[in-house]
Amino acid sequence: MAQDSTADGIYFGLMSGTSMDGVDGIAVEFAKGKPPVVLAEAFVGFAEGLREALFGLQHPGENEIEREALAANALATRYTVCCHELLRAGNLSAADVRAIGVHGQTVRHRPEKGYTRQINNPALLAEMAHIDVIADFRSRDVAAGGQGAPLVPAFHATVFGAPGETRVVCNLGGISNITILNAAGSVRGFDCGPANALLDEWAHRHLGKPYDQNGHFAAGGQVHRPLLNALLDEPFFTQQPPKSTGRDLFNPAWLDEKLQAFAGLPPADVQATLVVLTAITVAREIERHASDVRAVYVCGGGARNPVLMKAIQAALEDSGVSGVPVLTTEALGVPPHQVEPLAFAWLAMRCVAREPGNLAAVTGAAGERVLGAIYPR
Ligand SMILES: Nc1ncnc2c1ncn2[C@@H]1O[C@H](COP(=O)(O)OP(=O)(O)O)[C@@H](O)[C@H]1O
Ligand SMILES: [Mg+2]
Repeated sequence: MAQDSTADGIYFGLMSGTSMDGVDGIAVEFAKGKPPVVLAEAFVGFAEGLREALFGLQHPGENEIEREALAANALATRYTVCCHELLRAGNLSAADVRAIGVHGQTVRHRPEKGYTRQINNPALLAEMAHIDVIADFRSRDVAAGGQGAPLVPAFHATVFGAPGETRVVCNLGGISNITILNAAGSVRGFDCGPANALLDEWAHRHLGKPYDQNGHFAAGGQVHRPLLNALLDEPFFTQQPPKSTGRDLFNPAWLDEKLQAFAGLPPADVQATLVVLTAITVAREIERHASDVRAVYVCGGGARNPVLMKAIQAALEDSGVSGVPVLTTEALGVPPHQVEPLAFAWLAMRCVAREPGNLAAVTGAAGERVLGAIYPR
């Protein structure tokens, strides 16, 4: 995709995904014809109260309009803290920044019903940060008949694409998604299934911690084949793309229902099995849709889980796609935690340039669309 030079400048990207751990921020300079230059990064965690409020909004409940509005205000406050941190770390002033691209927090994702909802208060963020805010990137794609997700593949193509070589970029957030950068230049992308959403849920229940650090808990367990088969028995895994999913499907209730027949399994075995579930669902999609892949580049928080990384390599070896290295995007010069916030800074730049941000071949939308709503400073 060509870039309009009138949109050149410094952008912030803020990503808070389905892991609900906090907000990853990036300050980046885009200039037509040049690779993006990262100026600063920041991470601002969510306090327990905000996490609980966000978890509570993932399913229908009482007084949800007010609870959503208050959680959105609290989120905008965290986004503002992240922006201040980026200004400080990058030695920038608000006037230097063209726009903030902010994802918001997904509380419902129902493209089949014609909506997806990322809560946020972009007006409050613009008011507090004194920077133009661009938000709500997904709804226009859904309005055009698309999944509204994934939106990162167009950005992946611009930074990670290599003519003549098929590459897969795999993001392991709460949900896993892959982008297939085909040797011939075409791009596909879709969600594969649960990643950290279920790993974190189980770790939280049994360790009382937000996640299974470095996969230690999973490493102490044995993969339980019958449970794995029960988990794999889910229509989403064999559905053809375009497809996307979220906590609407892969949530604690889904897991508990699958676990009903396996009461008494050691908790570490369940964790080990959930790791392999993520690995197999990713590897199967790569085998089905990118069998000529030369390397897989992982990004997102899951790239920090060595047990999960090894499991993906093993699942690929077991599939028809062997001898393919599983690396992180660091091998292509971009640290794994920077990829998603960079993509939302890039989407903001595309909106400023009035250039499309989606790929119709990825989301299934009727066409390419300029994404996002602008809240001027
Ligand atoms: N050292 C680590 N070991 C295991 N898992 C990790 C580690 N660091 C991060 N993670 C995982 O990454 C998640 C955050 O990933 P992230 O890419 O921010 O996801 P999202 O985009 O859904 O918010 C955490 O919730 C955790 O599951
Ligand atoms: Mg996150």
